[in-house]
Amino acid sequence: PAADNPPVRRVSDWDAERLRGLATEYETPLYVQDLDRVRENCERLLAAFPEAEVRYAVKAHTGRAVLEAVRDAGLGAECASAGEVDRALAAGFGGSRLHYTAVNPPARDLDYVAGVAEAEPDLTVTVGAVDTLDRLAARGYDGRVCVRVNPGVGAGHHEKVTTGGAAKFGIPYDRAAEATRDAAERFDVVGIHAHAGSGIDPDQLDSHRELVARMGELARELAEPSGEEPTADVDPLDLEYVDVGGGFGVPYEEDAPALDLPAVAEATREAVAPLPDVVDLAIEPGRYVVADAGVLLTRANTVKPTPDETVVGVDAGMTDLLRPAMYGAYHPIRNLGGGRGRDGSDAPPVAEREATPVTVAGPICETGDALCRDRALADPARGDLLAVGVAGAYGYEMASQYNSRPRPAEVALDDGTATVARSRETLGDLTTVERDAAERHRTDR
Ligand code: LLP
Repeated sequence: PAADNPPVRRVSDWDAERLRGLATEYETPLYVQDLDRVRENCERLLAAFPEAEVRYAVKAHTGRAVLEAVRDAGLGAECASAGEVDRALAAGFGGSRLHYTAVNPPARDLDYVAGVAEAEPDLTVTVGAVDTLDRLAARGYDGRVCVRVNPGVGAGHHEKVTTGGAAKFGIPYDRAAEATRDAAERFDVVGIHAHAGSGIDPDQLDSHRELVARMGELARELAEPSGEEPTADVDPLDLEYVDVGGGFGVPYEEDAPALDLPAVAEATREAVAPLPDVVDLAIEPGRYVVADAGVLLTRANTVKPTPDETVVGVDAGMTDLLRPAMYGAYHPIRNLGGGRGRDGSDAPPVAEREATPVTVAGPICETGDALCRDRALADPARGDLLAVGVAGAYGYEMASQYNSRPRPAEVALDDGTATVARSRETLGDLTTVERDAAERHRTDR
């Protein structure tokens, strides 16, 4: 049962011997994603929010094996692009489990989704601008719509991922009721939505509560208009749900406290209540489902003492895991050893080494390319394997080919069995689009 599951998986909980074996077999840099942990996290969410619809925010990890595990666990899919809808469909999400959140959607994405809606009429499009509604209607779409609201309150681990309150997202709160009623004249409006931001920690729960309370109030105003405002001469809307977004944080520091999910769920229920009978609560967590199910394995290739610190050069960088460079994000790092001294002798077991302050830097030609700075790590030796923890969310997903670096491989662990889920890119893969372009150019002429 979910309650027996460990509340968080720390990088120290991974089986070191297993990780060393995987690194030897599949080489580094290597992402390892444990599907059993993904399933546990789904169960923990479902257990904490038994009455809510739980939709997985696909952007956190789009791998096929992960999507299938999440689908089997019974969650829906919240997709941010045509590409994510395409992946969700391929992984078997269909019908009302399919949600597409359109943020300034490219025409190509709207064309694609309007097409999908013909075969999947129960999919829902979440829209945060009246222009987007017009563009959907122009494509003949008159199906299920959820109106995204800017709740005027945000939260998150960094300003770059605090969405609530950011004008880019959603219809301003004080115009939302009217916009939703207008939308209902053209579409089947089934819900309202808001998302505070990503990486909400235990100390940010007040913002979450406030967002939820505002959304509950809006839902009541829309579903039972005459109750509150006797002058309002408007029809009640048949809302199915109030989606209060995702953003549930996970601890990255080894000793950071975890969110008390049942308590968050309880606070959410209290803040939103009382909803009209027919209206459900919905949430869309991404990080919570996949973050602690993944590690990134990387090998030290250069150990350089300098007057100030020891720089440990590794084969994974900001192209593999962007979060430290982009947000200054902390990822725990564990030295799994296995390296050698400069004279070729085996370095001592990690447990016997002294903790040394190090900067772990990648192979990219940017100063910002460091996985950590001034961090105490068991004195690294060349060839040591490092495990970068809590890398299962927004890790591989944000990888790039900058500096012409092929993207890393990923293995999925399913009941202990490792399968290559994404193969390591080759140098040839780096120029595929150029070769395709040249080929097309020849054919066009
Ligand atoms: N729903 C919506 C509408 C979202 O925009 C997001 C995330 C989620 C749900 C899921 O949020 P989560 O539960 O994963 O926090 N790359 C950043 C995170 C960006 C999140 C963007 N939106 C990072 O690495 O921290």
